[in-house]
Amino acid sequence: MSSEAIEPCTIALFGAFGDLALRKLFPALFQLDRAGLLPPQTQVLALGREMAAEEPPLTLVMEALRDFVPSDELDQAVLDRFLSRLDWLYMDFQDAQAYQVLAKRIGQSDSLIAYFATPAKVYASICSGLAVVGLAERTRVVLEKPIGHDLQSSRAVNEEVARYFPEERIYRIDHYLGKETVQNLIALRFANNLLETQWNQNHISHVEITVAEKVGIEGRWGYFDQAGQLRDMVQNHLLQLLCLVAMDPPSDLSADSIRNEKVKVLKALAPISGEQLGQQLVRGQYVSGSIDGRPVPGYLDEENSNSKSDTETFVALRAEIRNWRWAGVPFYLRTGKRMPQKVSHIIIHFKDPAHHIFAPEQRPLISNRLVIRLQPDEGITLHVMTKEQGLDKGMQLRSCPLQLDFSDTYGNSRVPDAYERLLLEIMKGNQNLFVRKDEIEYAWQWCDQLMAGWRRQGAAPKPYAAGTWGPLASIGLISRDGKDWYGDY
Ligand code: BG6
Repeated sequence: MSSEAIEPCTIALFGAFGDLALRKLFPALFQLDRAGLLPPQTQVLALGREMAAEEPPLTLVMEALRDFVPSDELDQAVLDRFLSRLDWLYMDFQDAQAYQVLAKRIGQSDSLIAYFATPAKVYASICSGLAVVGLAERTRVVLEKPIGHDLQSSRAVNEEVARYFPEERIYRIDHYLGKETVQNLIALRFANNLLETQWNQNHISHVEITVAEKVGIEGRWGYFDQAGQLRDMVQNHLLQLLCLVAMDPPSDLSADSIRNEKVKVLKALAPISGEQLGQQLVRGQYVSGSIDGRPVPGYLDEENSNSKSDTETFVALRAEIRNWRWAGVPFYLRTGKRMPQKVSHIIIHFKDPAHHIFAPEQRPLISNRLVIRLQPDEGITLHVMTKEQGLDKGMQLRSCPLQLDFSDTYGNSRVPDAYERLLLEIMKGNQNLFVRKDEIEYAWQWCDQLMAGWRRQGAAPKPYAAGTWGPLASIGLISRDGKDWYGDY
């Protein structure tokens, strides 16, 4: 299936009582229902383990909707309709017998979406369970990250799933691809010839991608400490953003054309070898500090922590893409927990004019930058040079912003959550916003060599105080090239 039609289906949510489902998936499904996008026959089957002292499943879902959907959007009529679509089943995903019960419950529904909001280690059991009871042929499967923790383990997961499902029915989530502004990158780049003609090493001096978060580990120490910021954020979200900024124009908007171009970028990423590692990559770990004026603990003092961990909560790196378009253009990537602001932005810095006609003291002011704000305040600002107004000003230059604020422009203050878009695309059978197996694997391959370099070096992550922009060395990483991180204040 690959049309724009939304066909009725049953959505089987494995891991339905976990954090992701309650915080994101049920609210997103509710919003789709509210927007009139769920066909009347669409059903949602919540699947999870029974836990002692757990509240009845539908009460948990109700509470989640109250917590994560704004109260003025919790319309009673929609709520009743949404609850009437829900059903639930306690099951052990590793018990083959349980799938017989599941198959009976699903019955003859035409199409099934099996959403795996579970750790990857149970994917194989779910796939084989669905196959044994004859459900696999009419099922699309949705895989959440992390898919493995390195190239080898991600291959093992992908191969296991591929035993039962063809690639055309596998939807690997990177929720950044569902964000409106991330999709807007495609429109911005390929619907504006003005920009695309400048989008290369002749005109661009460097690119910054920052994804900063104020939150710390939020009770996820067990998962996060095994992963670290490189696996949790760089391997997926930041590399996907880099691909969308750097890829060549696809020949059309089909999923494979876009993914083929992204894969070329990943393959062209220059490895960062042992000697360069110290200059091109900084790992950090937050220590206690303050966020919004309130004291917060360091990473090693978080709940359930292990006081000896050297897992990184911050990564900054300087990447290079070895192709004609990007030769000699550094891409600076930075992401961290417990930073002063939640902000995700991409900054395209254009080169200085080839020949200067302005007074020498004016020259350092000259810079054109395109700022793409992914969150919050989604929008675009192009900084252009103008002349100061006034008879007394002479040819005094000033950088002025040309602003495009998406919420003002589209008169719509509600930006849909990424999961709403992603669930909708799965129901339509469109794979554009999902990650193909080879993308994941090339991304792991690049990250694996960084991690191998760290292991050889054996250096501990550099400390930074919570509420700051990361270790001082991350400033050194960019200032060594005569540049600064945009927007640090
Ligand atoms: C998730 C990471 O994939 O993305 C989290 O596992 C992170 O650690 C989150 O907090 C950030 O997503 P967003 O949409 O809030 O920027």
